[in-house]
Amino acid sequence: MLPIGAGGFMTTLDVSFVRDQFPAFSEPSLEGWRFFENAGGSYACGRVIDRLHRYYRETKVQPYGEAGPSRRAGEEMDLARRRWAEYLNVTPDEIQFGPSTSQNTYVLAQAFRAGWSEGDELVVTNQDHEANIGAWRRLDRTGIVVKEWSANPESGELDPEDLAALLGPKTRLVACCHASNVVASPNPIPRIAKMVHDAGAKLVVDGVAYAPHALPDLATLGADVYLFSLYKVYGPHQGLLFVQRETGSQLANQSHYFNDRETAKRLIPAGPDHAQVSAANGVIDYLDAIDAHHFSTSAAPSERRARVSSLMRAAERERVAPLLDFLKDRKVRVLGPTDPDHRLPTVAIDPDQSPVAVSEALAENKVMAGASDFYAPRIIEAMGVDSKRGVLRLSFVHYTTEDDVRALIDALDRVL
Ligand SMILES: Cc1ncc(COP(=O)(O)O)c(C=O)c1O
Repeated sequence: MLPIGAGGFMTTLDVSFVRDQFPAFSEPSLEGWRFFENAGGSYACGRVIDRLHRYYRETKVQPYGEAGPSRRAGEEMDLARRRWAEYLNVTPDEIQFGPSTSQNTYVLAQAFRAGWSEGDELVVTNQDHEANIGAWRRLDRTGIVVKEWSANPESGELDPEDLAALLGPKTRLVACCHASNVVASPNPIPRIAKMVHDAGAKLVVDGVAYAPHALPDLATLGADVYLFSLYKVYGPHQGLLFVQRETGSQLANQSHYFNDRETAKRLIPAGPDHAQVSAANGVIDYLDAIDAHHFSTSAAPSERRARVSSLMRAAERERVAPLLDFLKDRKVRVLGPTDPDHRLPTVAIDPDQSPVAVSEALAENKVMAGASDFYAPRIIEAMGVDSKRGVLRLSFVHYTTEDDVRALIDALDRVL
């Protein structure tokens, strides 16, 4: 599958150019390791690491002051917010950086609750990472009625028809994921958003498992709130929080009272990690370097986002197909779809031996994989798998090579 570049020509991702942008691939202590735990956190690109170093060396002072280094620190933080907003096709006052997505959903739950009454309803799934379930579910202690949109136990997928039956005049919010970190098939967010909005409610989307593979156009996706974690998108350990402007204006300030009008602060009670916010620029530097390497025409940030995302997805699709084929032959249960067109390259399987033992054996073959419930025990249990035992997860991204996948398959062939 070759994507058509915005310049009108066919192009494919230059994986060796991509890997040159990551110090991990030339780090002697990592030599020979095949990295298949990207859904836990990707490698950081060089531009992010350089910016972090530079911040700590040159501008590690209180930002937004009058002195040169202080002013520069603040400017770089503001620049990160502006560039991420442009890239996602929204406005800077709709973007905030917080310590993590789990923390951001926790704060959001308090902010939304302040505007609701006892008996109001919200809908969560059993497919999400707990970060986008637990904080909402706990609002039942304050009189909010929590309903569950349950995934199909065979496929692990959510059916929007099932959501329709849960929506009503008292529904205030629906929280779901763009893709599960276990099942990994994207949910139809625009369709879900239409249903939620027709019911007069808000839609909160956890994009953590989706964003490393393709960054969305948030102006058209339909989510009122969209969250993802930059440490899984080649960047620093920060959660990026988008709150659509009108929705944000209805939420109660969760920061100091004097920050009520500060759109970068009102949903982030934690003081910002200045260096990491500044280093978030490095991810855009990296994505723009990919764009410049592959496309000769200039384009607006959101268009660059779209064409780089399409390059990445095409490369990932090619890599994941042989793994899914191999697993079909081995008759191992894959949680979620086995069609590479309907699955991100995050592949969770239920092996007939202990997932931890398989992961240990893979590690002996210099393959890094994960064995856990990945903080998504509800969907694992719903699919009939013991979440304490967990699943084996093989997750990769656009920088994974054909050779990596072959080595993974060879190792699995020996181990399974
Ligand atoms: C799908 C998903 N959502 C949310 C989170 C939580 O993100 P954070 O670690 O930034 O709190 C994770 C973390 O693994 C995740 O995979």
